[in-house]
Amino acid sequence: MEESTVTRATFDQVMVPCYSPADVIPVRGEGSRLWDQEGREYLDLAGGIAVNALGHHHPALLKALHEQADKVWHVSNVFTNEPVLRLAQHLTQLTFADKVFFANSGAEANEAAFKLARRYAYDKFGADSGKHEIISFYRSFHGRTLFTVSVGGQAKYCTGFNPIPPGITHLPYNDLAALEAAVSDKTCAIVMEPMLGEGGVIPADPAFMKLARTLCDKHQALLIFDEVQTGVGRCGSLYAYMETGVTPDILTSAKGLGGGFPIGAMLTTSAIAASFSYGTHGTTYGGNPLACAVSGAVIDLIAQPELLEGVKQKSALFVSELEAINQRHGVFSEIRGRGLLLGAELAEPWKGKAGEFLAEARRQGLMMLMAGPDVLRFAPSLIIPDEDIRAAMNRLDRTVATLLTQGN
Ligand SMILES: Cc1ncc(COP(=O)(O)O)c(C=O)c1O
Repeated sequence: MEESTVTRATFDQVMVPCYSPADVIPVRGEGSRLWDQEGREYLDLAGGIAVNALGHHHPALLKALHEQADKVWHVSNVFTNEPVLRLAQHLTQLTFADKVFFANSGAEANEAAFKLARRYAYDKFGADSGKHEIISFYRSFHGRTLFTVSVGGQAKYCTGFNPIPPGITHLPYNDLAALEAAVSDKTCAIVMEPMLGEGGVIPADPAFMKLARTLCDKHQALLIFDEVQTGVGRCGSLYAYMETGVTPDILTSAKGLGGGFPIGAMLTTSAIAASFSYGTHGTTYGGNPLACAVSGAVIDLIAQPELLEGVKQKSALFVSELEAINQRHGVFSEIRGRGLLLGAELAEPWKGKAGEFLAEARRQGLMMLMAGPDVLRFAPSLIIPDEDIRAAMNRLDRTVATLLTQGN
């Protein structure tokens, strides 16, 4: 196929309109910087929505990808392969889990987790037990398949897709009394993000997580942590649960796990994994050698204590820079988050205007995210140099100053 000139306008001509991408097209990345088709440079605090955990063009990931590309690309699960086995060994050594199921995305990892929770209850308590209720939380996000939008706590993502799978209950996040009242012997799983990502960068109350664990134990239900966004070093430990004193029965991981190469994983114990016996679940690409080779290199680097300590130090620098911007301009009502998943909630009269901040930031050479219309979200590379954090915060300061002078 001959290479043609493509622009943002091409998107509207040939792409299904379920996204509304920015008007610039990044064509090259290096560390925490991206360049667009015109050669303009951007500091990247979006990180591909918390995916590029080691920035762009990382030499160790390139090496892993190139080396594997020279060997074998794909064999399916009719055969196993060396990178997948090494990665599974590595993940089970580093976490509570004994077994791993690999998929291609966060949604697919969660789909596996929800199916496994129901199947485990079915195997253990019988088809007539009615033990299939999944408890989830408003504002949570678990992906875009029909099951995962149904479990997710944002009704807008289900609109028009009825009938949605039954047996799902939504409760307010961090509401201990509501949780205690809702869980019963019909519950097969409680599903939570240790910190709401898409839902506004809202950390779980430690007491809420502990209560979920206690109630799961009492009612023989499974505790599922969706660490698609919080995992792989993002919050300053390999997985966020590790700093909470609460261990899940099933954990899902994706995003940063591949550092930009698509991969998802569901981690669990041997006893629970047994319910996914031969033939009960699967996916063609799950455990693909290219993805697992890259992910192995990601985990090698991110599991190092110095890197994780660096995330905490960078987080403190980031927060202090955001606070300084707020002292100058008073645009944030709260700055919150963990590690390098941070949110700045917009104060009045800026509420609802996160999109305008993102657009102006791009004009200032800065890429960042929102988590709903009221919250600016930052998910940079976990190894972003301190000087890039300072430079990015200068650009954010200019962004805010410009919006203020425009009197928005
Ligand atoms: C917590 C959480 N779970 C699941 C997903 C879905 O992941 P994916 O888009 O890879 O399917 C996301 C994506 O934003 C997420 O933040």
